[in-house]
Amino acid sequence: MTAPAIEVKGLTKRYGSAGHGVVALDDVSFSIPAGTVFGLLGPNGAGKTTLIKVLTGISDISAGDATVAGYDVRTQSMAVRSHIGWVAAEVILDDDFTARENLWLQAKLQSLPDWEPRADLLLKYFALYDRADDKVSQFSTGMRKKLEIALALLHQPDVIFMDEPTIGLDVGTRRMLWDIVTGVHREFGVTVLLTTHYIEEADALCDQIAIIDFGKVVAQGTPSELKARVHGDVIALETSRPIDVPRLTAIPGVQDVRPQGNEWMIRATTAEAVLPSLLAAVPAETVRRISIEKPSLETVFLELTGHRLGQDEPMRDIRKFYAQMRQVRK
Ligand SMILES: Nc1ncnc2c1ncn2[C@@H]1O[C@H](COP(=O)(O)OP(=O)(O)O)[C@@H](O)[C@H]1O
Ligand SMILES: [Mg+2]
Repeated sequence: MTAPAIEVKGLTKRYGSAGHGVVALDDVSFSIPAGTVFGLLGPNGAGKTTLIKVLTGISDISAGDATVAGYDVRTQSMAVRSHIGWVAAEVILDDDFTARENLWLQAKLQSLPDWEPRADLLLKYFALYDRADDKVSQFSTGMRKKLEIALALLHQPDVIFMDEPTIGLDVGTRRMLWDIVTGVHREFGVTVLLTTHYIEEADALCDQIAIIDFGKVVAQGTPSELKARVHGDVIALETSRPIDVPRLTAIPGVQDVRPQGNEWMIRATTAEAVLPSLLAAVPAETVRRISIEKPSLETVFLELTGHRLGQDEPMRDIRKFYAQMRQVRK
């Protein structure tokens, strides 16, 4: 297939009334070649879930055009739905059902005839065959994720959507899921559109990435193309007193100096080369923290948007909070 798996042109999605609504997607355009893994990378609230909702026909389009698997999202939504699978961020499994019963339910919902051979194949592929008749409530997080992906693949879709597939997972399970995404894409030939706010995830998994912020695509390309857009290193400096910006900017090799939260971002051709002059220009007792960042998708994001992406996710903080609560109660 040479036609793109997904094509989006000038896509705009507004929630609420024109004038005082939220513009969740603002004139978004991209094209995803069939058989690739495409990542939509952006912070919370960027518009990632909205984009999936619009492309899967759950939400309507305010302006622009979109085709998925060759079908128009506006006018051929039934055809779109029969050619796509969706792995939602929320849990969709029925805990009281076995793995096989969950597959059966999915087949019923989609009126799939002869689903059993495909279900067996998927259960075997995901190493769940021996547990097929166990209730899902007994499954580990990793097994549940695999089953969710199996459900999404049951009707042999051309494209699968994964909305933040690894959010809240521990590092081990996250790595396992990365392998699954790559494997599924190779084994079943599906195009994958995944969303994430994890930079390493986009970097590790995606052939192409679109960076999205406040509903706008701010950059697009392969991970290495994106990284090549940033020239030089970033020195992040936190001080207890204001710094002498003109003096720092005058250091040979320093490209620019700008504030970012309570830090200063100093861009330099090579960080190591400017550090001695930099430290001479900032009183040592005022330095709280200093770190060097080499070009990465994180610095690309910072450069393009003026803010950081890779902050702690709130989910983890909530878990930490509950863990602390349990400690206190003991
Ligand atoms: N149903 C809705 N009604 C109104 N605003 C919404 C709705 N869903 C999302 N939004 C808003 O649209 C923006 C994008 O949200 P979302 O697509 O969920 O972002 P992401 O998935 O990247 O975190 C946010 O400002 C969010 O508050
Ligand atoms: Mg979301």
